[in-house]
Amino acid sequence: MYDSMMLESIKEVEKTRTKRLNEEFARLTADEKLELLHNFHPDFRDDTQREVKIGANKGEKIPHEIADLLESKSLLNPKSFDIINAEHDVDVLIIGAGGAGSAAALVAKESGAKVLMVTKLRHGDSNTVMAQGGIQAADKTNDSPMTHYIDVVGGGGYTNIPELARALTMDAPSVIKWLESLGCMFSKDEDGTMQTIHGGGTSRKRMHFASDYTGAEIMRTLRDEVQNKEIETIEFCSAVELLLDEDGKCGGAVLYNMETKEYFIARAKTVIIATGGSGRLHLAGFPTSNHYGATADGIVMAYRAGAKLAFLDANQVHPTGVVYPKQMIGQLVTEKVRGIGAQLVNTKGEQFIHPLETRDVVSSAVIRECEHRQNGYEVEERQYAVWLDSPMIDLIHGKGTVKRELPAMFKQYERYDIDMSKHPILIFPTLHYQNGGILIKENGETEIENLFVAGEVAGGIHGRNRLMGNSLLDILVFGRRAGKAAADKSKNSDVKILSLKHVERFHKQLEEAGIESERTSPMLLPKYHK
Ligand code: FUM
Repeated sequence: MYDSMMLESIKEVEKTRTKRLNEEFARLTADEKLELLHNFHPDFRDDTQREVKIGANKGEKIPHEIADLLESKSLLNPKSFDIINAEHDVDVLIIGAGGAGSAAALVAKESGAKVLMVTKLRHGDSNTVMAQGGIQAADKTNDSPMTHYIDVVGGGGYTNIPELARALTMDAPSVIKWLESLGCMFSKDEDGTMQTIHGGGTSRKRMHFASDYTGAEIMRTLRDEVQNKEIETIEFCSAVELLLDEDGKCGGAVLYNMETKEYFIARAKTVIIATGGSGRLHLAGFPTSNHYGATADGIVMAYRAGAKLAFLDANQVHPTGVVYPKQMIGQLVTEKVRGIGAQLVNTKGEQFIHPLETRDVVSSAVIRECEHRQNGYEVEERQYAVWLDSPMIDLIHGKGTVKRELPAMFKQYERYDIDMSKHPILIFPTLHYQNGGILIKENGETEIENLFVAGEVAGGIHGRNRLMGNSLLDILVFGRRAGKAAADKSKNSDVKILSLKHVERFHKQLEEAGIESERTSPMLLPKYHK
């Protein structure tokens, strides 16, 4: 329920609504976008990043919170930890059971591999399940993977690794067909045509969706299929270290039972890391839209094993995170809300940015409005927000559209007596996505032999900024590719004697760099208590 001050502020938004409905807001030039980013995006703030002192990315700047985890000690004592007896011996070990892990598991199994998937929470607890707005694929007659590719690299500020962006966009139509064949229920017109809308930075309407719970529907489909195919999945089981053999090849992991707190070993001919992102590190103090387990574990393990990271200095704050009601702080308000007509408006009733500029640009504009121009609404002391004018949607498309097209979001606000089809909502950027991660090749391979990576933990696909709907796509494209490549590779791999010598070496590097902290990682679960 809004208080009287909020209702007063809403009147300013309502005053300009008719005018705004009839005017097209100008897009920014490339130079204006760059200026906005450099002045207001958290990636460009001096206080958000520092140089990492050891490892393959030594000397590069990355967020403090991630650097601290990389420069931590292992949870294990590598000198005394016993790795002789392996409880599991498989072809492909998959760490993480969100969308990427599950897609990899299905394809690896189909390719004939013995698969084990482990996940520190429940199967499907992941950012996949929380994704709302959609999945991009150029499968309509006015579109093509090449056009999609151009949008992807434009959105990424022309920094994406071209081969990865190419794989992403070329595989997209077949990913949609695959999901449909598994029973995924996308939103369709009465004649069966897939409904598609625009997202920020898309030049065609290619965002496929299942209402506003696309990720949940995709995850339901994958989880059902993993169960149908009887793929062994261990829940509440995290990985804490990779194991390398005497040739430096990856050959398994040390696993940790989150309930009994016991360690055990999985030997594997190939390993796929699919542990997701890092939103729960709350980089630069932002709230997050991420699930509880998003704590950068995969990056930590791979870095200790010698893997190279890419674009970790680029993190995505999604422009529209909930600020009010307080119980929903940081939750995502899907870009679909802007995709179907809502505009961003300040307390003077002014629209200050085109709603479908790319996310980095829109977020920077919201931050500028709140922190520089003082045109934000002060929800709490020093917590400012702007209005997302959601009632415009029903005005454009007809009464009942908000409730029909955004049922999950509508319901969430309704619980707090806010009708978002009648009143605008208060938003500010929320930490949403790790643009970078472990550097991969087109088939998910890393520089460490027999180690593959897929999903948000991978880096290079999106460059410095991902477009909406390309994350649900990337987890499936690279999950499937990594699953196939890891299964094929396992046919000709044998695992030699495994050890944690690389962790010993890493500890030595910490010592040599004078890093004396007793901090340990991976974090596994966020620490909200003191
Ligand atoms: O706004 C959204 O629905 C988010 C989608 C995404 O990150 O791809």
